[in-house]
Amino acid sequence: MRIVVLTGAGISAESGLRTFRAADGLWEDHRIEDVATPEAFARDPALVHRFYNARRSAAAQAKPNLAHHALADLAKRHDLTLVTQNVDDLHERGGSTNVIHMHGELASALCAACGHRWPSPAETDVKTPCPACSAAAARPDIVWFGEMPYHMERIWQAIERAEIFAAVGTSGQVYPAAGFGQHARRTGAHCVELNLDQSAVSRDFHEQLIGPATHIVPKWVAGLG
Ligand code: APR
Repeated sequence: MRIVVLTGAGISAESGLRTFRAADGLWEDHRIEDVATPEAFARDPALVHRFYNARRSAAAQAKPNLAHHALADLAKRHDLTLVTQNVDDLHERGGSTNVIHMHGELASALCAACGHRWPSPAETDVKTPCPACSAAAARPDIVWFGEMPYHMERIWQAIERAEIFAAVGTSGQVYPAAGFGQHARRTGAHCVELNLDQSAVSRDFHEQLIGPATHIVPKWVAGLG
């Protein structure tokens, strides 16, 4: 079957990575929305580098969990398009390939001067040079609030041909990802939401599986045959 799965921070919660809105939404006493923006980077690039260095180190110490492994398993038996809002690499380390990181990824660095991308060092700072143009203009290759998510054409096409659309561990508070369920429903997919709780867009789904991802995702995958 043609399946699209969208994941959010909730799938990495049991791996020990904090979600955005369950936590107090603060980091070093800064609201995340005030650190993950182009304005914050222009205002205080060293602070933003520090924020992502901390997230890169947390992600490196985390391990993929049963939910990540179950989705890698699903791809062996179905035509799966895996889209994630997460910037960690737990899907890849859990065995998934061709993961679509619509909000970018910690593993990649981007040159703010020439647009070159390269595998990010564990730590970047205001002096990190771009290997292509040598400008000291490295930034995290992360889609900040107000910037365009990546790979949207490919994502909309996959949703429109999907027979099943599932959203795992996402609060449905950030668009365009929050609108994927409604679009999938409109284009005929069976829509399933897997979450600890209700989300802001639960009404868009035909089916809801409530519980921790490490319990409900393997069960859901097994049920698909
Ligand atoms: N199992 C399943 N779901 C869980 C678990 C768990 N163990 N723990 C938390 N959740 C659910 C919460 O109920 C919530 O719905 O995961 C969701 C986490 O929501 P957010 O913290 O808002 O994360 P997310 O939806 O991924 O945020 C989307 O917002 O801050 C931006 O760019 C950032 O990609 C992020 C986007």
